[in-house]
Parts: sequence; C-alpha cells; structure tokens
Amino acid sequence: MTAFEPITFMKFKLLPVLWLLFVCYHNSAAGANVHQRSTYRREKGPLQGNLILSNGNVHTMSEGEEVASVIAIKDGVIVYVGESETEATKNFDSAPAIVDLQGHIAIPGLIDCHNHIVLLGNRPGYHTPLENAYSIADVQSTYQARADGIPSGSFITTIGGFHPNHFKERRLPTLEELDEAVPNSPVFVSYSFAGPATTNSLGKAFFESLADPPLIGANGSISSGVNNGKALLGLRKQLTFEDRKRGVRDAMEYAVSVGVTTHLDQGGFPATGTPSDGAAHEDLYSIHLPWLSVYDDEAGIIRLRINFLHMDDSLEAPTVQQRLLNTFKLFGNDMGGGSSTRQLGAWRRLAGVLKCTR
Ligand SMILES: *[C@@H]1O[C@H](CO)[C@@H](O)[C@H](O)[C@H]1NC(C)=O
Repeated sequence: MTAFEPITFMKFKLLPVLWLLFVCYHNSAAGANVHQRSTYRREKGPLQGNLILSNGNVHTMSEGEEVASVIAIKDGVIVYVGESETEATKNFDSAPAIVDLQGHIAIPGLIDCHNHIVLLGNRPGYHTPLENAYSIADVQSTYQARADGIPSGSFITTIGGFHPNHFKERRLPTLEELDEAVPNSPVFVSYSFAGPATTNSLGKAFFESLADPPLIGANGSISSGVNNGKALLGLRKQLTFEDRKRGVRDAMEYAVSVGVTTHLDQGGFPATGTPSDGAAHEDLYSIHLPWLSVYDDEAGIIRLRINFLHMDDSLEAPTVQQRLLNTFKLFGNDMGGGSSTRQLGAWRRLAGVLKCTR
C-alpha cells in the first residue's frame, strides 16, 4: 500500500459532492426554485466609463518601479500611464471624468490570497486593529481615536492580528492604562487564537456580571484558554446580525484603507458555543450571511472570494455535503465584483481540495 492510495480513494468518495455542485449550479442557471443570486455586474459599478487620474503619484508596480503622474481608465481597462493629461485624453471619444489627485498616491488594488476577513467582520465589539501600534501609548491613542468615532459606551475590541512583542514594553496594556485612554468604553484586547487578554474597569464589570464569568486579575489580565474563552463567548452572545453587518462594513473599510481590494477568505473552525472557542471559531453555516447582506445592500466595497475550510470526520462527508447544499444556493456573483464562492478545502486532506469556480 503506498501513501497515495487513501488520496485516490478520497477522490472517488468526493464524486457525489462534485455531482451536487453541478446540480446546484445547473438549477440556479435555469432559474429553478433556489435562492435568487445577487448580481453585481461590471456595467453597474465604477468600472464603467472614462476616467483620468491626474497629478498623482501612480505606483505602477512595474519592474523598474516607475511612478507616473497620469493614468487613464476606459471601461475598467487602463489605456494610458504617463505624464501627459493631453495624451491620456486622446484615448477617449467622449470627454473623460478627470480627478485631480493633488499629489496623492494611487496604487493598483492589492489581492490578498490568504486571509480571514470573513471572521474579522464577525468579531464582537468595535474591532480595532493594533497592527500599527508600537507602544502602549500607541494603543492608547488608537483606542482614543476609535472611541471618538463610535457610540459612547460601546465595547472596543482587538481580537488577534497583533502581538504585544510589537510594543516596546513587550506586554499587554494594564487596566489602569486602558482606563486612562478610554474611561467610558469597555475594552477587550486579546492576542493569538485564545489570549491572553486584558480589559479595563468597564470591561471587567461586564465580564464579571456574566453567568459564567472569567477570572480577571486586579490589573485587568485574563489568562489564555478557558478564561479568555469565557470572555469572548460573553461578548459573542451579545452580537446581533446588525452588529455583524457593521463589523463587515468596518472590515471592508479597513481593507481598502490599506489598499487590499480583493480577498480570498480561507474560512474558520466550527464553533462549539463554549469557552473552548477561540478567535478563529465561528458558526460556519451562518458566518457568511452578514457579508451577503452587506452585498445585497450594495454596500460591498471589496471583492470577496470564499474558500470553505471544512473538516468532516467521516469519509462519507455528510456535513460537507449539507454545507454545500446550504451554501451554494446562497452565494455566487459575477466575476466583476461582490462576493463569490471559490473552492472547498477539506481540512488535513489534500484530496479534498476541490475546485468549484463559477
Ligand atoms: C497582571 O497580573 C498578573 C497576575 O495576576 C501578572 O501575571 C501579569 O504579568 C500582570 N500584567 C502586567 C501587564 O503587569
């Protein structure tokens, strides 16, 4: 028996899954009794028409790293990069819209082909990235700025996406330091998948009022594992669908603020609804719904491509089949924008990586 035999076996086992995919696709193409797919077509979006960006620093990302000042775009296609607005205008039959960048930088939209932005959008609280904080003082000013822009008394959270080794103090902020920065907002700062974490006085009061409260040190410290899990679960139980949609819009805005316009999301782990859930656990059957809803509102500002990370304990793949039956009725847009499903990645089993681009 070679090491490859089980993989071949898995391939055959996945044939019914392939068939299911075909049926779902076929049904939706025929307009059968399935959830109506949303459509975000090129001709509807900003890719239509004639546009010149002038007087900018246009980073071309070419080998020589040239920076141009003018770029012309015709129906979503770049037709000119250079220094002359007059030359750029010659590419159009009708007058293009001209945007004066006033020296601002323009870069091509970046594609991140492995991230977990879907989880990010579902985070409890007003998630606040700390990836650009290099000290406790930076954390304090980041949180102060965040508190100014959100409803008073809302939970400020940072769940993953940073490490205290980034801070010159090489530790998490204390309860006093967080109180000093944002006395009127409860805070939960947790790193890695399951903490450790820290909180401030308002946060501590919230967590200690939970039915199953975590242990919290006098300095606000919450140890990794079950205590972090209890705090996180307490916050997640507060989440409404509207909160998740707001989180989705926040995640999108953060993404475009750093120039990442296309995201290939790689999923998460199935939630158990207990304190053993960490930052990367969520209800995999509903995690995409707030995202879909934001796209349905036509408020989507990034392109989302979704891979499904899934672990089935049985070779019959029953939960994978059910998940595909659920999900492929709900998702899928045209290539030009919005969200679409990409492929199924079976956890730990190479043979389960199944391409199903639409
Ligand atoms: C907070 O207190 C705990 C003990 O309860 C200690 O392990 C931790 O280092 C303290 N954290 C800071 C930032 O001082």
